[in-house]
Amino acid sequence: MAFATRPFVRAASSTAAATAAAKKLIVKHVTVIGGGLMGAGIAQVAAASGHTVVLVDQSDEILKKSTKGIEESLKRVTKKKFADKPEAGAEFIEKTLKNLTTSTDAVAVVHSTDLVIEAIVENQEVKNDLFKRLDKFAPEHTIFASNTSSLQITQLANSTTRQDRFGGLHFFNPVPMMKLVEVIKTPMTSQKTYESLMDFSKAVGKSPVSCKDTPGFIVNRLLVPYMMEAVRLFERVPENLMMGGPLGKAVPSNPYDSVILANFFKSIYLCLSF
Ligand code: NAI
Repeated sequence: MAFATRPFVRAASSTAAATAAAKKLIVKHVTVIGGGLMGAGIAQVAAASGHTVVLVDQSDEILKKSTKGIEESLKRVTKKKFADKPEAGAEFIEKTLKNLTTSTDAVAVVHSTDLVIEAIVENQEVKNDLFKRLDKFAPEHTIFASNTSSLQITQLANSTTRQDRFGGLHFFNPVPMMKLVEVIKTPMTSQKTYESLMDFSKAVGKSPVSCKDTPGFIVNRLLVPYMMEAVRLFERVPENLMMGGPLGKAVPSNPYDSVILANFFKSIYLCLSF
């Protein structure tokens, strides 16, 4: 039996890496489905980083609201980013908005997209129906991704015929501010898809982390025990609710914040149905 020498192994592995990289999909056109809190934020960062973006929702009225929210958010970002260069800031907003269009017809827009990011209501059946429908109209190369917080990516992927081109892209709220993105790889997600999603996350200015398709992924998995402990503390000593004030100043995710608590119970409910 012959043993490979070190230089040979190094050369072979760098060739393999180069081939894999060559095969990666460079995402240029993105379709974001769902123009709510998360979808609008995702569309904003994608458009701001030079991607052509179509934001889809159920009505023009909702989309008008989403676009207005994006414009307001861009103004806030610009105020910080271009504090001393208002002209450059105005140009940034104009360019970003030029990259962004809206539609109420997902089927009609996916025919030319590289990446579909779904950020609609957190309901397995509704998401499955959407992916199943889009699977018939999206090109072969198109990657599908879900922003779900608590549903299993594998189950969503199984509603399509493109399980190898399916993954999770879990952004955090507020998207323009939060750096982290969890990139979820199911056992069926191809390496090419995974790497394309990692690259896309970096291209929109985020720091992606790799994640398996397990309940809560990473952040919510850590957050749930933290929140549970807050609930237990409250049960034992109700005055602990008073901790909300000082704690809110010390940590960004104060467990006694009513919005965080509401999201927490919603996540627990959904995780239990995994
Ligand atoms: P949201 O309620 O603000 O927005 C959902 C949008 O989807 C709405 O505008 C709705 O009209 C639209 N929609 C529903 N069904 C649709 C369909 N079939 N086709 C097109 N549009 C449709 O919800 P949000 O908070 O933006 O959440 C979206 C997804 O992101 C959920 O899966 C949620 O679990 C996930 N997520 C939410 C986070 C949060 O902090 N809110 C954080 C990370 C992930």
